Amino acid sequence: MAFQENELFDDAEQQMTADEEALLDELGIFGDSRRKFLGQLGGAGLGALVLEVLAEEKALAFGDAGSPLVAPAVENPVTVSFTVNGAKKSLELDSRMTLLDALRERLGLTGSKKGCDHGQCGACTVIIDGRRVLGCLTLTAQCEGRDVTTIEGLAKGDALHPIQTAFIKHDAFQCGFCTPGQICSAVALMQEAKNGDASYVTPNIRQKAATLQLSDEEIRERMSGNLCRCGAYPNIVAAIREAHTGKATDAMAAGTMEVHDATV
Ligand code: FES
Ligand code: FES
Repeated sequence: MAFQENELFDDAEQQMTADEEALLDELGIFGDSRRKFLGQLGGAGLGALVLEVLAEEKALAFGDAGSPLVAPAVENPVTVSFTVNGAKKSLELDSRMTLLDALRERLGLTGSKKGCDHGQCGACTVIIDGRRVLGCLTLTAQCEGRDVTTIEGLAKGDALHPIQTAFIKHDAFQCGFCTPGQICSAVALMQEAKNGDASYVTPNIRQKAATLQLSDEEIRERMSGNLCRCGAYPNIVAAIREAHTGKATDAMAAGTMEVHDATV
């Protein structure tokens, strides 16, 4: 058995390119560890796939700028200083890195989800300076000096944000994958209503209201960028309506729901 592993190691080592060797050196895989690692590859050598996996693992290990961890091999590096959930952050990263990747891979904030990575599902929604944005379509380099809030930053200690409480009460999720994005979107939506910002279904967009009372149609329209594969939409609308109106809402059917005074 040991003989077979040694043979596999020798084969794999002979097939390694200079770049592959350099990468293993950089990752600190030497001696017996390297022997074991290459032996486990079954003599196939380090293909592009393995290199990609290793590079990804390495990227996941990076911390804030100034961390004792290995510095990332980035191209076009930029340093971005911004606030995330109330804490100052300074990251040196590739100028092309999206905010979603920076949050998840550099800051370990994995609440924001990567659904489509193409701006189509809303799973990556976060809030910048009070406005909702798609993390997958926002470059981190655009966030210099800005204030980013993610799902991890909404609760104050043990006190959940009213939208979070309403989502739990109305069972507004099943698998929960879309939920961080839905909640961030809903939090910003409530502010849009307070600001009187119009939507596609606002009856009179010429007359800017001081504050808007959102109908179910308005809530559905304003949340239409957040997809839910589990189809929790009626409960999501009910939860947002309750948080928006402050009145207990029955979620039997969004659009025909009854509203009761929450204090009754
Ligand atoms: S992951 Fe950003 S919109 Fe889907
Ligand atoms: S709760 Fe599963 S995707 Fe929305």
